[in-house]
Amino acid sequence: MHNIPLLRTVEWKNNKVVMIDQTKLPNELIFVEYSDYNDVAKAIKTLVVRGAPAIGVSGAFGLALASLQSNASTKEQIISDLEKAKKILFETRPTAVNLVWGLDQIMNIAKQGNAVDEIRQLAINTAKQMAEDDIRINMQLGKNGSILFDNNDTVMTHCNAGSLATVAYGTALGVIRATKESGKSIKVIATETRPVQQGSRLTAFELKHDGFDVSLIPDTAVGYTMANNLVNKVVVGADRILRTGHVYNKIGTYQVALIAKQHGIPFYVAAPLSTFDMKSNPQDVIIEQRKATEVTQIGDKKTAPDGIKVINPAFDMTPPELISGIITEAGVAKPPFVESIPKLFEANK
Ligand code: MRU
Repeated sequence: MHNIPLLRTVEWKNNKVVMIDQTKLPNELIFVEYSDYNDVAKAIKTLVVRGAPAIGVSGAFGLALASLQSNASTKEQIISDLEKAKKILFETRPTAVNLVWGLDQIMNIAKQGNAVDEIRQLAINTAKQMAEDDIRINMQLGKNGSILFDNNDTVMTHCNAGSLATVAYGTALGVIRATKESGKSIKVIATETRPVQQGSRLTAFELKHDGFDVSLIPDTAVGYTMANNLVNKVVVGADRILRTGHVYNKIGTYQVALIAKQHGIPFYVAAPLSTFDMKSNPQDVIIEQRKATEVTQIGDKKTAPDGIKVINPAFDMTPPELISGIITEAGVAKPPFVESIPKLFEANK
């Protein structure tokens, strides 16, 4: 079991949302507190909180705050205030499907209430329950994934799909945690994940904090480490998974998957069922484009000429043929995913 308390990324305390400010990591572990949903929206946009499941729960807490901020005296008024808040929270980041999932959960439950105070209580209780469920689901997912990993494996991960990307425990890093908890020895290679460096700032921080054997590599060393047998398996998280098994995750995931395929290294994706989008096709998915300074600067230091044109997509798509398995709380889907993914949802009913 866990000897070191897990980092709690986001929680509800005294009618406020408390988050770790991830923009300050790894230099400072500080917590910020919000009582206005507009500030939660800003926090999602500016990556104070990030990672698909964490922004899903943060969006839900944002709506819970909006219910407290509302001066409504009728059900219709509070629902209309919540719809306005939902729009602002939703427009922060377009790719991770957990955000809209979290917002919809709260809206659906709120609409079942009658009086204003009852709706407020329903919104708060549901958001708190979603946070607890996130931990439980990730632990189950981790356990399901751990059987795919062997004693003495060295596992590569990209971006941060850990405690810091969820409420606690993590998806891809949850699998790594559960593998270790099952008594196997496991080492991790974390890519630095330019441009925002979730790998070096967050994954390296989190795994070191929790006592894992973790090595950091520049993104450009993925080919070298795989070609030199320094990696046995890959596990990453996801922001959105289509029913066909197309996986949207942090920019660079596609390259990692391609190089893994070239070297015959199994490439796994770990995500809860709330990350699946069973309706969209690849052409419907909006890839978030982020600001140029993420690429033209490292921190505050300029590393590119003034006025340079920049292409800065936050996510890419890894096609199903590069993926060995998708690990969820309902089991592991193996190719062909068009057949195995619907079965996971059946099993979870
Ligand atoms: O831009 P970010 O940091 O929100 O991107 C996060 C990722 O791409 C994660 O891998 C993904 O959300 C899965 S988190 C469990």
